[in-house]
Amino acid sequence: MCNRHRNLLICNDMPPTNQEKPHPSGDNRFKLLDRAITRHQSRGDALIEVLHVAQGIFGFLDNDLLIYVARSLKLPLSRVYGVATFYHFFTLKPQGNHTFVLCTGTACYVKGASGIQKAVEHHCGVRFGQTTADNQISLVSARCVGSCGRAPVAVLDDAVAGKLTPESAVEKIGEWQQVPGEAAA
Ligand code: FES
Repeated sequence: MCNRHRNLLICNDMPPTNQEKPHPSGDNRFKLLDRAITRHQSRGDALIEVLHVAQGIFGFLDNDLLIYVARSLKLPLSRVYGVATFYHFFTLKPQGNHTFVLCTGTACYVKGASGIQKAVEHHCGVRFGQTTADNQISLVSARCVGSCGRAPVAVLDDAVAGKLTPESAVEKIGEWQQVPGEAAA
């Protein structure tokens, strides 16, 4: 077991595999998803578990992610889409125009994720799991986004931001709110 990821459910007992080639997007989170898929031996009957892990890592299940899971598990996309839409605990897209995914995994928690959570919730006026009233920003938490060395980490839309502080996290959200035409929260 990787010491850095000790106690992280999605990292436990998941040795590196040949599947761990970088995703073309360069997004490290796919490595974590690949490990979970490998742990389930790419079995189609692990679909719900794999979707759970995917949502935990990415915050929600967009079309590209569903396609990736379908290909990895060698399942028809219609089946993956059917399961993802049937269960209410799966979210297919964030409600807000922007998504702030805060990692609350062990490394990030130890490095101060809870302080960031409080500051961001206070700034946006909503809790994690919710979207601001103007539909601009969704706050989502994830277990580990695969960048523990840069903890505490958040994924702002599709960009990973590391070594965050409560102030820098709020500042980054403020940049979204300053874009002309986007209403402040
Ligand atoms: S615990 Fe791994 S990136 Fe946060």
